[in-house]
Amino acid sequence: MIYIYVIIFLVVLYAGVILWLHVKYPEIRWDWSGIDTKNMKFPSNFSWGTATASHQVEGGCDNNNWYKWESAFNDKGLPRIKDGQKAGDACDHWKRYKDDISLIKKLGVSHYRFSLEWSKIEKTKGEYCKETIKHYSEVIDDLLKENITPVITLHHFSNPIWFDEIGGFEKEENIDIFLSFCKFVFSEYSHKVKNWCTINEPEVYSVMGYFADIFPPGKKEPQLAVEVLKNLLIAHTRVYNALKKMPNGSESKIGIVKNIMQFDPYRRWNLLDWIVCRVTSKIYNGIAISYLEKGVIDINFPFFVKLNYDSKDAAMATDYFGLNYYSHSHLKFKFDKYEFFENRFFNSDVMTDMPYAIYPEGLYRAIKQAGKVKKPIIITENGIADSADDRRSLFIERYIYAMSKAIKDGSDVRGYYYWSLMDNFEWAEGYDMRFGLYEVDFDSQKRTLRKGSEKFIEVINESK
Ligand code: BGC
Repeated sequence: MIYIYVIIFLVVLYAGVILWLHVKYPEIRWDWSGIDTKNMKFPSNFSWGTATASHQVEGGCDNNNWYKWESAFNDKGLPRIKDGQKAGDACDHWKRYKDDISLIKKLGVSHYRFSLEWSKIEKTKGEYCKETIKHYSEVIDDLLKENITPVITLHHFSNPIWFDEIGGFEKEENIDIFLSFCKFVFSEYSHKVKNWCTINEPEVYSVMGYFADIFPPGKKEPQLAVEVLKNLLIAHTRVYNALKKMPNGSESKIGIVKNIMQFDPYRRWNLLDWIVCRVTSKIYNGIAISYLEKGVIDINFPFFVKLNYDSKDAAMATDYFGLNYYSHSHLKFKFDKYEFFENRFFNSDVMTDMPYAIYPEGLYRAIKQAGKVKKPIIITENGIADSADDRRSLFIERYIYAMSKAIKDGSDVRGYYYWSLMDNFEWAEGYDMRFGLYEVDFDSQKRTLRKGSEKFIEVINESK
């Protein structure tokens, strides 16, 4: 008889835990058929923009870690980038930036976020290239002439080869080298550039490069992945504190850019799926959010990763929270010591060309998560890979609606930058992923505004 009571007790306990998880981490779904996406309201001075990153668009990036990676092979002898593609000339943005600025202008946006290619500025350690400095200075001037506010990213996934050769961000002492570069460029441009992003997506850089083996340097070492993440976060704080003290620092807006991704259980009744989701989320989202909010990292997953850090300096050391948001993942537990989950999809999912679905409610959730840091939020990236251009318009309408709803419900969101201005080199996926508002024909370098992108222009016009 006692066994029956024990079984009943365990069943009730299990159901209670699952119910508690359901309530605490709801996978929000809205009934879109009843939602009116017209008349969205945005604060005055809301900044609309679009974004790119140097390696993805400029061309001629032959001195960085990605250049090397593009010629590398994995353990199975397969090229690291899909079908052996290489960034090469990319969008030739380095030479065509003037025309591209006209394209930015035509969208009606007020901000352009782009990154400086560290490997072109500091070709060898400690030597800054005059020609490159002049180039970016001209880009900035041309943007300002067109009344477009430049937003500079100091680090967007690419490192000079020499920096990687001495250990890159695996070594905390190397942060000084990155800091010197940041101080140098800030002294060059801060009299005309007032918006800065320190590091783009530290969690993507570390997870993809040190856990998933998809980005350089292609390691599969979970503990090293979290150490690298910690170093990137420390790098952000040190850069932030140093630049704020420099001339033009106090009036500049300097912030980190973090990707948020929700991990929702594939089977909401399955405790193992919940556990992998909570662990993954704690590492992917939790480390950076807790670091930025409290200056504390406290992660201890025995036999997997352990990371502790506590520094008052780090708490709130950012002028804004740059939020990159694309989608969520449904995880299913898998018996495997290393890859203990797999990504699953439902028939009802409307997929993007990337392996994730359209999930606008997730942007609303992400804004709430970012709100923990209690700083203004800027959506520094959001966009869809859609080569057929048959979902872009819906994507734009619904994600922007989700953002406007978050604003209505009290979130302090100050800007939205669409990823990306034009089709470009999508890292491990090469040129197959078409994120651009403008379609690029890579043979002729012709840019054409996509039909689906008109929605973006429409929303911006209506918001004015
Ligand atoms: C990165 C971009 C990338 C985009 C789409 C973001 O994680 O910052 O460089 O192209 O996602 O995958």
